[in-house]
Amino acid sequence: MYKKFFGLRENPFNVNPDPRYLYLTRHIQEALACLIYGIQARKGFVLLTGEVGTGKTTVLNKLLGWCRQERIATAFMFNPRLSEAEFFDFMLADFGIPCDSTLKSRTLLKLNQWLLEQHQRGSRAILIVDEAQNLSFEMLEEIRLLTNLETSTEKLLQIVLAGQPELEDKVNDPRLRQLRQRITLWAKTRPLTLLETSGYIKERLRIGGSTGQEIFSLAAVEAVHRHARGIPRIINLICEHALISSFVEHSKTVSAKIVEEVAGDFDLQEVAFELAPKAANTGLPILADRELPQTGRPPSVPLSRVAGEQKN
Ligand SMILES: Nc1ncnc2c1ncn2[C@@H]1O[C@H](COP(=O)(O)OP(=O)(O)OP(=O)(O)O)[C@@H](O)[C@H]1O
Ligand SMILES: [Mg+2]
Repeated sequence: MYKKFFGLRENPFNVNPDPRYLYLTRHIQEALACLIYGIQARKGFVLLTGEVGTGKTTVLNKLLGWCRQERIATAFMFNPRLSEAEFFDFMLADFGIPCDSTLKSRTLLKLNQWLLEQHQRGSRAILIVDEAQNLSFEMLEEIRLLTNLETSTEKLLQIVLAGQPELEDKVNDPRLRQLRQRITLWAKTRPLTLLETSGYIKERLRIGGSTGQEIFSLAAVEAVHRHARGIPRIINLICEHALISSFVEHSKTVSAKIVEEVAGDFDLQEVAFELAPKAANTGLPILADRELPQTGRPPSVPLSRVAGEQKN
């Protein structure tokens, strides 16, 4: 209902990693270019890291779209809690490789044959692993071993590993030095600057159907940026709730006062502490996806928990 009030077609601040909404900041452009270059130049391993909620999965979804256009085969792993056998099984299924055995030797043989066929046809295959900070050292080592599938001149499988900053710590661990040595490109996502936050909010409103009227005042944008500290997922959350509050108050423009009130409803002390990567994936529901409350402002939820919310 508030969508109509603000002249919007859809909710612009949904917290799903929808690549249609991708706002290309300089860092995001660099990250995407780095991943694409890594794939084109057959660099073997490419890493993408960044704080919770800064757009890694959104970038990967954009990359998947690019791979589809280029007819590059992909397997997208987003559940790091799989056992080794399940991981290989899922990967083959996602590549579309039929395999009726769960024996690792058979699975690898099938994968190797399929990769060679792809190579002979001039096609590439990319394994993309999201949330890789949660993979065990053993699983990361297994993934490294996949880059041993090669012809005498070229790697057959390109691998993109994405994850929160603990992934950086993991690959710097001496136990994974062989993996570290193979990482030739490292892309990063970062919190937005104030200027980027302003562009980000405008762009999301435009894609959501806004025809250009000012919905967030300048001071409101500044307040959103300050409270969210440039983290897109938190920007979305604050903006969504600020829109709802403005609607409830029959105000067509979101003021700084409304943003302050919305941010005050969240536990920002906790955010400051918990936005560190360890706070990720606490498993609470995404508030922004809930029904619009009948009256008053939406209930209070620790923002930090939503920042680390598991998606998909
Ligand atoms: N550059 C961007 N353009 C548009 N939306 C973005 C951008 N960066 C992040 N977002 C939005 O912010 C939210 C969080 O993004 P995303 O899920 O990609 O973050 P993440 O880095 O993968 O988080 P996590 O560390 O929890 O996995 C999503 O709603 C996403 O659409
Ligand atoms: Mg993610």
